[in-house]
Amino acid sequence: MAHLVPIDKDFIANPYPHYQRWLEGPRVFWHPDFFGGAWVIPRHADIIALLRDLENISTEKTGSLVSQFPPEYHEELRDIDLYLARWLAFIDPPKHNQLRRLLRKGFTPQVVNSFRPRVQQIAEELLDKALERSGDSGEIDLVRDFAYKLPVRVVSAMLGVPDEDHPMFMDWMDDLAMFLGNANPTVEVARKAKQALYNLTEYFRALTPARRAQPGNDLISILLAAEEDGVGLTEEELYAQCVFFLFAGHETTSNLIANAMYCLLRFPEEMARVRADFRLIPSMVEEALRYEGPMQYTFRLARRDFDLFGQPVRKGDVLVVVFGAANRDPRVFEDPDRFDVTRHPNPHLTFGYGLQKCLGAGTARMEADVAYTTLLRRFPRIELAETPQWTDVYRFRGLKSLRIHITA
Ligand code: HEM
Repeated sequence: MAHLVPIDKDFIANPYPHYQRWLEGPRVFWHPDFFGGAWVIPRHADIIALLRDLENISTEKTGSLVSQFPPEYHEELRDIDLYLARWLAFIDPPKHNQLRRLLRKGFTPQVVNSFRPRVQQIAEELLDKALERSGDSGEIDLVRDFAYKLPVRVVSAMLGVPDEDHPMFMDWMDDLAMFLGNANPTVEVARKAKQALYNLTEYFRALTPARRAQPGNDLISILLAAEEDGVGLTEEELYAQCVFFLFAGHETTSNLIANAMYCLLRFPEEMARVRADFRLIPSMVEEALRYEGPMQYTFRLARRDFDLFGQPVRKGDVLVVVFGAANRDPRVFEDPDRFDVTRHPNPHLTFGYGLQKCLGAGTARMEADVAYTTLLRRFPRIELAETPQWTDVYRFRGLKSLRIHITA
């Protein structure tokens, strides 16, 4: 069947023609390449309907991450489930609502805006260093020198983590992304992810007492103080959310920044429109989120046997909602393959939908806004130095590198 092409490197490099076929095909279909076999839901309206259907779906899906491996590995990898089961994204209501209300205190527009000057400072510093490094060549790698570094420094600043610890984090976070971003990870990848989760948790365990003794305006201090009806986060919940924020805020936002630049470079008329009017930066960022979304899909488990758009599914089945496809659904987006920096409205699903919609969307938007006002102001000319390659991580769509010529 036309929609059952394997999810291999070629697919990941350019999933869009396949998405088009998925959108024209059945509303739900089985694909063997997601988690060893899962139901795929590509259409925009269906994804919204499914993510609303809390009677039938569950996000407490960590068991499925370990059970995808042969039984002899389950005991060894079990801790992955234990760590991830505490992440907000893997908790169902009513516990989810209670936890999210506490965590929201760390993501109000006031808190997000209070970090804007720091983000600006980090962006300038990174670009100064990138220029220094490029010497006379005028060439930088936007991924390595900027996009990959900015979000982790921002989320670390939000958490109050010292800058010098970043190199250590980056390796751990890469190990986690290889596991969580991969539709079919190997056992070796899972082992590394388990070690990374352990290392990150212990890191926050060691950091927290100082915040408790001397609170600041960082997320850890805000979350330590957060409580409702006398109930706050437990210590383990707190460390787990810190690891989650670091992870959730890093790879995705890095990819947003680099993917947006690649869009602008491929569509020079759109770059010119933004350059002519910086007020278009926010809608350009939304369009980049839609067009080359840094989160291509997420998934849920069927809570019970039920009828999914005419397809019977069984309790425990994996249901994959493909935001990348929905974002090109012609039923919702006119001329969906056109990158249009003024597109309005733009109801892309890249931050998810419903109860578990991204809590960090405001932070990511602010970072991208600062990144682009700074990049376009400082570099009146930006040109592609080499056609970039997409990474092999399907879920978190991003570029291996983005070498550009800049004129300061
Ligand atoms: C461009 C950047 C980002 C993208 C595309 C993105 C995307 C998403 C998506 C799709 C979800 C929902 C997942 C699901 O339903 O299974 C989500 C959840 C979440 N994201 Fe983001 N995210 C981004 C940046 C951030 C940042 C910067 C933070 C925090 C610093 C963050 C924190 C969260 C949290 C806490 C949740 C869980 C919400 C919940 O379960 O209630 N994200 N994100």
